[in-house]
Amino acid sequence: MGKILCVLFCILISSLASSYAQNCQNFAFSTNVIYTTCVPLPVLNSNLHWNYHPSNGTVDLAFRHTGSDTSQWVAWALNVDRSGMVGAQALVAVPNSDGSIRAYTSSVTVYGTTLQPSTLSFAVPNITAERVNGDVVIYATLVLPSGGTRFNQVWQVGPTNNGAPIRHSLNSDNRNSLGSVDFSTGEAGAGGSVGGSRMRRRNTHGVLNAVSWGVLMPMGAMAARYLKVFNVANPAWFYIHVATQSSAYIVGVAGWATGLKLGSDSPGITHDTHRNIGIILFSFATLQVFALLLRPKPDHKYRFYWNIYHHSLGYSIIILSIINVYEGLDILDPEKKWKNAYTGILISLGVITVIMEALTWVIVLKRKKEEKRTHAGANGSYGANGVDQSA
Ligand SMILES: *[C@@H]1O[C@H](CO)[C@@H](O)[C@H](O)[C@H]1NC(C)=O
Ligand SMILES: *[C@@H]1O[C@H](CO)[C@@H](O)[C@H](O)[C@H]1NC(C)=O
Repeated sequence: MGKILCVLFCILISSLASSYAQNCQNFAFSTNVIYTTCVPLPVLNSNLHWNYHPSNGTVDLAFRHTGSDTSQWVAWALNVDRSGMVGAQALVAVPNSDGSIRAYTSSVTVYGTTLQPSTLSFAVPNITAERVNGDVVIYATLVLPSGGTRFNQVWQVGPTNNGAPIRHSLNSDNRNSLGSVDFSTGEAGAGGSVGGSRMRRRNTHGVLNAVSWGVLMPMGAMAARYLKVFNVANPAWFYIHVATQSSAYIVGVAGWATGLKLGSDSPGITHDTHRNIGIILFSFATLQVFALLLRPKPDHKYRFYWNIYHHSLGYSIIILSIINVYEGLDILDPEKKWKNAYTGILISLGVITVIMEALTWVIVLKRKKEEKRTHAGANGSYGANGVDQSA
């Protein structure tokens, strides 16, 4: 059954491919180069033509934007590590005042890019562009990164100001000009992104870590600090704290491991800060687990120092975790809404913290007063900051 489906699918793909190929072969480039593969891109009147050389992993390609306005810049890019605009390794064509076209490469790092010339993450031994019969064509040879053939692609058209590219419009065509391309099979997908599985793994990594390090750990710390002030929650707070932090640690280590795997699967792509903070976090959190096991009894003379150690390590973990979740969100570059959602969660936790902190102080001060009134209060069943009666 699977085989029949596969055969049908292959016939469908190859007939589609051959109909594309005919269109491609019909198109005569001024360079007389014949490209064996061509895909019409779904928006912005563009076509991608290429020859793929498996022997040396290179692609000779022509990106053709038809009916191009004489004051428009045109760009086509591979995005090796992500999808969409940021991270795009772009081939850019910009009209000169004399009507000729200058072509260069530009690595896009921010949304506000002005497409300044820069080198790409892979080699482009040759790039030229021309305007012919109202079309702008970029010709280039790419040395495909890490021997891959399947990538996310993105292309764009925008206005110039005094001969320099400026921001493109945000019409739906300009926002939907992305997809995937496989230089080996000639398959191209619109809209979404390839590397689907890689993208999924990156998202899994993001969710595991944001939930564990970024949300559960701060909540576990809050449980410890604010629940223990209520007598009824004693020693429940301790078990809640340990349970929350242990689950956060287990999920967090799983998330951490997916991060290491992602890193080792994409040599040449380094997110040093994110990676280093991740390693520090793992070490600190593991130390906390040992701290739990080596914890002195509440009335032990070293308990005071242990508390300082446990608290400072704990707060460092929370701060570093939050920083690293934001670092990760910047790398993942998902829609803004995820960053906003995480910021929203942090603000809620912050508000709860402020309220609980105030409440804690009110309770503690009231207890102190009562203790003083009833008598000595020196038996000190409540510590100075509202109890430290670990189980
Ligand atoms: C790659 O191989 C093709 C065909 O084998 C050859 O025409 C082309 O010049 C080579 N390109 C580079 C950059 O070595
Ligand atoms: C670059 O491409 C142009 C146009 O296709 C061609 O004329 C030129 O010989 C190429 N240069 C190199 C160094 O391959």
